[in-house]
Amino acid sequence: MLAKHAAKEIIVDGPVNICGQPFVPGDKSISHRALIFSFLTGKQSLVSNLNTGRDCLHTLLALHALGGNYSWQGAELLTSSPRTGWQKRKCQIYAGNSGTTARLMMGLGAHFTNGSLHIIGDKSLSQRPMARVGDYLQTMGMHVNYLNNYGQLPLVIAPGQPQPATHKLTVPSAQVKSAILLAGLAVDGETEIIQKEQTRDHTERLLKLMGADLKTREPSITLQGRRNLNFPAKYTVPGDISAAAFWLACAAAGGQITLTGVGINPTRTGILKLLEAMGATIQYSNARCLHGEPVADLIIGESELRGIDVPPEVIPFCIDELPILAALAACARGRTVVRGARELRFKESDRLAGILTLMKRFGVDCEQVEDGLVIWGGRRFRPANFYSEDHRLLMAAALLASRADGQSRIGPVRWLDVSYPGFGRQLSLLATGNVCLA
Ligand code: S3P
Repeated sequence: MLAKHAAKEIIVDGPVNICGQPFVPGDKSISHRALIFSFLTGKQSLVSNLNTGRDCLHTLLALHALGGNYSWQGAELLTSSPRTGWQKRKCQIYAGNSGTTARLMMGLGAHFTNGSLHIIGDKSLSQRPMARVGDYLQTMGMHVNYLNNYGQLPLVIAPGQPQPATHKLTVPSAQVKSAILLAGLAVDGETEIIQKEQTRDHTERLLKLMGADLKTREPSITLQGRRNLNFPAKYTVPGDISAAAFWLACAAAGGQITLTGVGINPTRTGILKLLEAMGATIQYSNARCLHGEPVADLIIGESELRGIDVPPEVIPFCIDELPILAALAACARGRTVVRGARELRFKESDRLAGILTLMKRFGVDCEQVEDGLVIWGGRRFRPANFYSEDHRLLMAAALLASRADGQSRIGPVRWLDVSYPGFGRQLSLLATGNVCLA
C-alpha cells in the first residue's frame, strides 16, 4: 500500500542553493563491518547511527539468516548472535545490490567449519567481479564454487581448512582486503596482505579495537587468526563522508551547510582535499575520535571553483565520490582531469560510462578515456531528466539539477535508498527554491 504512494522522482526547479544542516546517515562501510563483527564475536551490542540503506539491511538480513538476532530500540539496533551452531549450517543469503555484503560474507564463509554459504545477488551484483575475492580465498584452501559463470554470483563457499598465506593485492579494494582479513580470523596462524595502494582501513581499525593481533606496516598487514575478539557493547557509527560529499559539493557550488559528526578517516578524505584544491574552504571543528575512527563537524559555503587535475594516488581515497566530484567539476571554471580511476567500471554500474551519459544529458562538455574523464566546466548547462539504478549517479544528477536553469527530474527515488534513505526529503527541505518529490 505504502509503495503506491512512495515518491518516484525528485523534481528540481533550478537553480537552487542548499542551506542548513542536513541529516547525514551512518557510514555505510563501517555499518556493514560493525554488523558482521558483532555477529562474529557473539556479543550483544547496541549500535547507534547505523546506516539503514538497503545495502546495510542486506548484511543485517544475511546475518539473521545465519542465526543472528536483532531488534530496533528506537533508532538504535540491538544485535546478538549465537556463539556456536551457525558454523555448521548450510545457508543461503541474498546480497541484493550490495558488493560489500557479498564480498565480506565470502570472507565470513571461512568460519563455516562444517557448513557452507550460498550467496546470491540482484542482476547488477551478479555481473560484478567476485573472483577478485574468490581467488585469494582459494589460495587459503577454501572452496569457491561459481554456480553459473566463473567469477560471478551465485556462488557457494565452503571453508575447507583455511591456511596461513601471503596475498599480494592486484586491485586497490577494501572489500577484497576485508574479506581476506575476515577469513584470516579463522586461520590457525598468520595471514599477510601486501597492498600496493592503501584503501579504506575501517576493518583494520575495528579489528584493533576488538583486540585482534593485527599489525600494519605499509605495505604489509599481518593478522594472527583464532584469537578472542570483543566487539563493544555500545558502538556508534560515524556519519558517512560519502553521503556528506553531496552536501559539501552542493554548498560549494551555491549555499552554506553545516555537518556534524562526519567520519574524517584519512583513507576516506580524498574528496575534502579535492574540494579544497578546487577553491572551497572547509572549516573543521570539534575533532574527536569515535571507537578508533576520527570524526569532526564541517562547515562549507559557496566558493569560486576552478577545475583541477585529480592526482591518481588520491583516487582510492575518494573512489565513491568521483561521480559527485565530476558534477562539481561541471560547475567549476576550466578543465578537470580524472585518470587512474578504472575501478569505477566495476561499481554498481560502469560509473565512467554513467558519468559521461549524465554529463551529456545536462549538456556538459565531457570526454571519457579508458581510465578516467575530462570535464570542461564553468559553462551554462541545461536542465535534464536522468534515471539510473546507481545511487551515486543519481546524487550527482541532483547536484547538476540544482545548478541548471529550469526543471529537472531525477529517479527512481527508491534507488537512493541503497545508501541514503530520506535523501530526497532532505534535499527538498534544504533547497532555497522549489524541490519536490512526486
Ligand atoms: C567499500 C569499498 C569500495 C567502495 C564501496 C565500499 C567497502 O569498494 O567503492 O562502496 O566498504 O569496503 P572496493 O573495495 O571495490 O574498492
